[in-house]
Amino acid sequence: MTYRSIKGTRDILPSESWKWQRVEERIRKVMERFNYKEIRTPLFEQTSLFSRSIGELTDLVSKEMYTFEDRSGESITLRPEMTASVVRAYIQHNLGKQLPLVKLYYLGPAFRQERPQAGRLRQFHQFGAEAIGSANPDLDAEMISLSLAIYEELGVKEPLLKINSVGCQNCRPAYMKVLIKALEKIRHELSPESQHRLGVNPLRILDSKLEQDQRATSGVPLMRDHLCPDCAAHYKSVKERLSALGYKFEEDGRLVRGLDYYTKTAFEVISRQLGAQDALAGGGRYDLLVKELGGEATPGIGFAAGMERLMMVLGKNSPSDQEEGTTIFIATVDRKSQDWAMKHALELRRQGVSVELDYLGRSLKAQMREADRQRARYVLIIGENELEARRATLKDMKSGAQETTTFEEIFKRVVSSSKA
Ligand code: HAM
Repeated sequence: MTYRSIKGTRDILPSESWKWQRVEERIRKVMERFNYKEIRTPLFEQTSLFSRSIGELTDLVSKEMYTFEDRSGESITLRPEMTASVVRAYIQHNLGKQLPLVKLYYLGPAFRQERPQAGRLRQFHQFGAEAIGSANPDLDAEMISLSLAIYEELGVKEPLLKINSVGCQNCRPAYMKVLIKALEKIRHELSPESQHRLGVNPLRILDSKLEQDQRATSGVPLMRDHLCPDCAAHYKSVKERLSALGYKFEEDGRLVRGLDYYTKTAFEVISRQLGAQDALAGGGRYDLLVKELGGEATPGIGFAAGMERLMMVLGKNSPSDQEEGTTIFIATVDRKSQDWAMKHALELRRQGVSVELDYLGRSLKAQMREADRQRARYVLIIGENELEARRATLKDMKSGAQETTTFEEIFKRVVSSSKA
């Protein structure tokens, strides 16, 4: 029997991992420019952390979580997202006591048992940010701006920003009554799935991708027209701030998001270069979540974005970026030269140089081919004569130039070129 990775999971091989590293580095840089600090939370948590925050009746909690009992009988869930964990950590470590506004970012895997397809995996990777401690609409604008700044930094073409307001505990209950009444009237026109949702999670009917549902619900009332004065003013301010920052956005009254913790602002960043799974990022405000999870009432806002979807988009329009090769390949001919090479490779590596040697007992010719394959900047050939003279020929693979000089000179050259 041979093993294969589990459906919906994938290996990120070296041919790709270097691109991930570069993208991750740039994401971190942008996060830090906006003064967000990294938080790393565990991959698993108590199941109720997620069901309480994301909502028992959401698809995510009711159908998609990887939940199991550990050996002590406790119900554990692999994190399907990071917001709940970040808020848990915020409360647990009293982060709000140290700083009035806590700005955190993260990168890492998340798990959802969805039907795998292009851009949808069961283990996927998210990066995201959370700012906890302010209800100011300026912060909504900053959070949205942060998500877009990352795509801008990476050269993603024309990300489309969609925004909406999903109201709060004051206006949403009344709106839900109005919505359910309107949906009941057109129940028979809805898809079977949406008819089921009517009794469970009626808001999600609004963002159904089925044409039948879209047609049927085209006239139903939307939350944005039923906001309380506070939510309406907040929504207006967010739009004004975004415009002042020069962002274009589309107001989408049907943008409801799949998680229950949102209040007021909800947003998504869409790419037309993606297929059915076109959301690069999603987020919003969650002013009730900290209290819901046992902390003092504290407003917050955040977003998360899919790495795989970002990499798909970048793959479509990335410049001819290349992985860096090793700096130097030291080719050897016998035991003595190999001993020398191993010793000096370690010395060079300690000084920050990337070095490769032969471990397969290959001929000089085959070692040269390998150096080429590794895209080594320099090749050094060491044999008996070189060891005796303490001089060797350094070949610059980029320019083709060859120079015979002392070992000291060679090391100096290689160290300085790997620092450049
Ligand atoms: P979400 O919309 O569920 O929000 O996920 C955010 C992003 O993660 C999506 O836009 C998508 O790019 C990516 N994603 C989600 N599921 C998958 C999957 N199965 N395969 C590949 N990529 C996926 C959240 O997770 C919230 N925690 C966002 C947030 C942060 N709200 C406030 N703070």
